[in-house]
Amino acid sequence: MTTPHTFALRGRTLAFRDDPFRVGPDAAVETCDDGAVVIADGRILEVGQASNVLARHPGVEVDSYGPDALIMAGFVDSHAHYPQLEIIGSYGEQLLEWLEKYTFPTEIKYSDPQYARAGAETYLDGCLANGVTTASVFSATYPASVEALFEGALERGMRIVSGKNMMDRNCPEALRDTARSGYDQSKALIEKWHGRGRIVYAVTPRFAVTSTFEQMEAMGALWREHPTTLMQTHMSENLAEIAWVAELYPDAPDYLGAYEAYGLIGEGANFGHCIHLTEREIARLRETGSAISHCPTSNAFIGSGLFDMKGLRDCDSPVRVGLATDIGGGSSMSMFDTMKAAYEIAQLRGYSLHPVKAFWLATMGSAAALRMEGKVGNLAAGHEADVMVIDLNSTPLIRRRMREVDSLFEALFVQMILADDRAIRATYVAGKKLHDRDQSNADR
Ligand code: GUN
Ligand code: ZN
Repeated sequence: MTTPHTFALRGRTLAFRDDPFRVGPDAAVETCDDGAVVIADGRILEVGQASNVLARHPGVEVDSYGPDALIMAGFVDSHAHYPQLEIIGSYGEQLLEWLEKYTFPTEIKYSDPQYARAGAETYLDGCLANGVTTASVFSATYPASVEALFEGALERGMRIVSGKNMMDRNCPEALRDTARSGYDQSKALIEKWHGRGRIVYAVTPRFAVTSTFEQMEAMGALWREHPTTLMQTHMSENLAEIAWVAELYPDAPDYLGAYEAYGLIGEGANFGHCIHLTEREIARLRETGSAISHCPTSNAFIGSGLFDMKGLRDCDSPVRVGLATDIGGGSSMSMFDTMKAAYEIAQLRGYSLHPVKAFWLATMGSAAALRMEGKVGNLAAGHEADVMVIDLNSTPLIRRRMREVDSLFEALFVQMILADDRAIRATYVAGKKLHDRDQSNADR
């Protein structure tokens, strides 16, 4: 029998006791100024005051990060597109034109397995450099593009969700599958990859616009046949898109109704954007335990609209919400930028998103949206040891600003407004340090 590799991280720790939208920020967090996290065989064994915790593990190896470091769960990005890395920051278009002009032509390149593999490497390393340890990712239509991402995730031991885009109309011929081939290819990918390492498959209708009724039917069947997979798609992002869905699905009561008619709703369903929802859609999302991925930098960048965080999450009957970069509609791989944009968009609707709520959305909220509660998203005993170490004084400006700060909440707020990848000192995946900022800088 091999002895489990046990070691500890020491610094300030932040864990969540509960949902801050429900119990308030103070009751939701547990912090230790001098805390320790003990990790054994890729899992968190214990979190608490360093003096107590380390006394229970005499002689354990300790990575000490000091009082400037905040140790917490790695970020979870609940919606991104890795084949859009090379079009981040493309000028001048809103959703439908942006898809035609930039997105579809780029995704065609991902039919080449080598091209896809190189993109997947850049994407996954970019995640780690930004403290993102789990992401739910759209690949392209080609099974090879999914395999490229899963191979990279498997090598790194990352908990990555992905699926091949299913799209059999309203897109270039080169990106199209059919109801049959989309079903067969997705099924083969599920059989090969779902549950291998920490990989999770998501049945992935791109959006209702690009699938025929026959394909929607096939995807509903596929998801029913593989209930432990997830389902990811887009919904109610842009007004022209919504009008188009209404034309294409004249019998559906609304956009969600188009998915609902084919069983594409419920626990494990993850709808990106959801900006312009009707009351019926909100009620159905809530009743069915479906999740929304809020993509604030994307919603601002492509000019899609202002998400209603207060009405959907900070209310008496909340919907499940995760936080997402949506690269490359989104303009940044950083979850700090994403939290900042979520704050700014909420401000434009007259609501202030508390930093504890923002950090919760970027970790536990996203984990819950991906049905991974209890596995990732928190610094808690029994969780998989996906952990990041944030340097609270990563730039001269932040250091100066931090001198004025007198609470951890304020410190978190300063980070979400001013920090970037320079603040991610280290990223651990299943207990292995896969990103070390200072080492990466030294290697450059
Ligand atoms: N709707 C359908 N496809 C996409 C996409 O790739 N990005 C965004 N933001 N919205 C979409
Ligand atoms: Zn998207």
